Amino acid sequence: MFITTKYILAAGALALCSSAVVAQKAAPAAGAYGFGAAVPATELDQFFSPLPDGRGLPPGSGTVAQGEKVYAQQCVACHGVNLEGGLGDRLVGGRGSLPASAGTTHVKTVESYWPYATTIFDYVKRAMPFTSPNSMANDDVYAVTAYILFKANIVGADAIMNQDTLAKVAMPNRNGFQPAGR
Ligand code: HEC
Repeated sequence: MFITTKYILAAGALALCSSAVVAQKAAPAAGAYGFGAAVPATELDQFFSPLPDGRGLPPGSGTVAQGEKVYAQQCVACHGVNLEGGLGDRLVGGRGSLPASAGTTHVKTVESYWPYATTIFDYVKRAMPFTSPNSMANDDVYAVTAYILFKANIVGADAIMNQDTLAKVAMPNRNGFQPAGR
């Protein structure tokens, strides 16, 4: 009985494998890329990976006031009215709490930990809102980035974030990283 079951299972696994091979050989589904297919320039334009100095940031801009609205619509449910966290991470506060010398209560947030402001744009654009990443217009991402920076007391209420200004923001923990000693 045991052996029979084993053979049936093995046969089933083989069948699965061969159907997987067939599936791989089938033409790619509409909207997917087949092996070696050229990606159209219009789609490549939507891919970016900004560097700390701002290179690679897309055009666009947003104010703190606009960002407050975006935050209320798309972020507050998970990150809280005061950006204190909930389902999602706490985003502000904890400044100066990370060094060992600060004691044992380390509060790791965008404000206390992230060394570069451009990462906020990059992360939010590609990963947030959690349930529909990559859905936000660049202006809205700049705006909500400005709002987070404002709530973190890093920029003023009149700040405008764009390709040029974002990279110039000095994050509090910019110099808090050290090369590993190896
Ligand atoms: C449905 C819940 C949800 C919504 C809505 C949401 N987030 Fe998040 N967010 C999360 C979760 C969960 C994480 C942690 C993800 C992880 O660590 O992989 C996170 C992480 C983050 C982080 C990184 C924090 C850190 O220190 O690593 C930022 C910044 C952020 N979200 C910003 C936003 C912004 C801005 C919006 C609105 C445009 C938003 N989120 C909407 C759930 C959400």
